Amino acid sequence: MEAFAHRSLLDIEGLTRADVERILDTSEAFLQVSRRPVRKVPTLRGKTVVNLFYEASTRTRTSFELAGKRLSADVINMSVSASSVKKGETLQDTCRTLEAMHPDVIVIRHNASGAPNYVASKIGCSVINAGDGMHAHPTQALLDAFTIRRQKGTLENLIVTIVGDIAHSRVARSNAHLLNLFGCEVRVVGPRTLLPAAVDSLGVRVFDRLEEGLEGADVVMVLRIQRERLAGALLPSLREYARTFGIGPATIQYAKPDAIVMHPGPMNRGIEIENVIADGERSVVLEQVEAGVAVRMALLYLLAGETTEAPAVGEAD
Ligand code: NCD
Repeated sequence: MEAFAHRSLLDIEGLTRADVERILDTSEAFLQVSRRPVRKVPTLRGKTVVNLFYEASTRTRTSFELAGKRLSADVINMSVSASSVKKGETLQDTCRTLEAMHPDVIVIRHNASGAPNYVASKIGCSVINAGDGMHAHPTQALLDAFTIRRQKGTLENLIVTIVGDIAHSRVARSNAHLLNLFGCEVRVVGPRTLLPAAVDSLGVRVFDRLEEGLEGADVVMVLRIQRERLAGALLPSLREYARTFGIGPATIQYAKPDAIVMHPGPMNRGIEIENVIADGERSVVLEQVEAGVAVRMALLYLLAGETTEAPAVGEAD
């Protein structure tokens, strides 16, 4: 099998449609590994993965850790609150220190947009962006694409409506870029104050009214209101937001009858999504979490293990 053409994964814009398909196809094999009684393969034995998280994370950090461990890599989690960064160490010094330990992959989440690109320019190993500021979250877009493809049987020409805080969302940005590669109609809906200034450059259709944005949608992607990134009063009140843009039984009816509902988590229940939808039959939130481990295994394998064989689907240990 031809080697993967990239050393690092910094954003979706750097990938072709064929790259995305390769990642998703590889993820299928690793999903099967995660569903076996023995969820481990020797693929990355002797390789080292460092998780460097400067921002809070539940799903992304644990799924990268599990992904590395299921591939038999040595995984180190650097939790920044317990590290020298709290003592004033710069990102550059942290990188130099890590490099001296010879990692094969650094997975980084940072509140500054561009931090993963900076690390990749300073260090010789592979770097995976696990979310940087308001810029990109490529592994989330890939796991979302994987989930959509499994649920809908295709990624092509779907109508995908992203609802909520688009301005602060790296998830929305990466998803829009990926879905555009497959000819999807990507729509965004939300209050004008939560749309990014350069929304036109995302290749999306903008809707002010939720009902119109949902009309005929195959996929509804609900975003978290990013309270930690909301500078000033961009929203009159969360109750008002829930009434106008919340996804509940009344509003979901505007989407297709078989539309799926996604959320990257963590969810603000009762604000952007009602419980009956979050826990209802259209929700694929937990499928997204399961996909997250498989897609991250595929990425670690493609970036760090190109000399070894990926397991065939269904292969026994
Ligand atoms: C997202 C993130 O951190 O960007 N969460 C995640 O990775 N699952 C979305 C969010 O925080 O709202």
